[in-house]
Amino acid sequence: MTGSHKISEIAVVGSGYMGGGMAQVFTMAGYNCVVADATAELAHASVERLLSEARSFEKQGLFPAGSRDEIAARLSAAESIEDAVAKADYIAEVVSERMDVKDSVLARISGAAPSSAIIASNTSAIPIEILAASVELPDRFVGVHWMNPAPFVPTVEIIPSSHTSPEVMDKTEELIKGLGKVTSRVSDVAGFVANRLQFALFQEAVRMVEEGASTPELIDEVVSNSFGFRLPFFGPFAGADMAGLDVYVGAYESLSKAYGERYAAPKLLSDLVAQGDFGIKTGGGFRGMDPSRINEIVSYRNRAYTALAKLKEELGPFPG
Ligand SMILES: NC(=O)c1ccc[n+]([C@@H]2O[C@H](COP(=O)([O-])OP(=O)(O)OC[C@H]3O[C@@H](n4cnc5c(N)ncnc54)[C@H](O)[C@@H]3O)[C@@H](O)[C@H]2O)c1
Repeated sequence: MTGSHKISEIAVVGSGYMGGGMAQVFTMAGYNCVVADATAELAHASVERLLSEARSFEKQGLFPAGSRDEIAARLSAAESIEDAVAKADYIAEVVSERMDVKDSVLARISGAAPSSAIIASNTSAIPIEILAASVELPDRFVGVHWMNPAPFVPTVEIIPSSHTSPEVMDKTEELIKGLGKVTSRVSDVAGFVANRLQFALFQEAVRMVEEGASTPELIDEVVSNSFGFRLPFFGPFAGADMAGLDVYVGAYESLSKAYGERYAAPKLLSDLVAQGDFGIKTGGGFRGMDPSRINEIVSYRNRAYTALAKLKEELGPFPG
């Protein structure tokens, strides 16, 4: 069980791409952070990389002035996983996305950490319930899924297993919110919310390329300039409610004729349309948006798209 004391000491196990970014965020927020990796040499090299990257981010105006020195004052490398976690209040497991690696690293972490420490996995898609089997005292174990790049993407998904204590959920959420992140408590299903959706889109995109129906370049161009434009402001449900659920059912009819059952209109959608609920134009829909606010909603959307178009022009084209 975790105690009620405040979190001040953090350990990040796996100091690669994601773990490194998380260590920068924790130390910039005032926490002491020790990183561990497969070897002490790797952990020491990560600290050097993170400091020189922080200097570069500072020069580009991406990190506040003085960040590199703040990180240097609070970031250290451990000689082993056991050393890193021995005095930690909160431990982030950020090793490679392989079940065998996570299994052995989580067992080592939970064997050496104080019983009061929270242990958080950054897994992209493995259910937390499965990983919990590798953890001693799994009530202190929770999924905390940051997005890439960790310092710059707002959302962090927080995922309980059936063992995770409510206190661990609350303390974890408080910690991550305090870093300026947007915390979303999501269910423990493979891929959680973000990756289940992101990977469905990517799968279909790759299929189109395999079929010769499009190219990676063309798909990226269309996505980033079409529905990609909506996603910074609202998700698929508000989008469908605004477009009209009847329109969506009609589109699914054509798509399912071409691509079969996997493109059949989902039952929840068909049921709403059968009841005469077409989204915001009739009131209701998935999000229950009030039709009397349609002008306000449309005006926000239009201002958002115009501002995004301006930002894209200022930034210039994606250099990839
Ligand atoms: N890259 C992404 O876009 C992204 C986004 C969100 C979540 N994640 C998840 O974060 C985790 C880490 O991904 P990443 O992209 O940072 O990978 P990465 O390869 O950059 O980093 C993994 C780190 O783990 C270390 N490691 C491997 N085996 C170890 C062991 N036995 N003991 C200690 N350290 C060990 C590696 O040396 C490396 O430094 C994965 O679970 C991944 O699915 C990745």
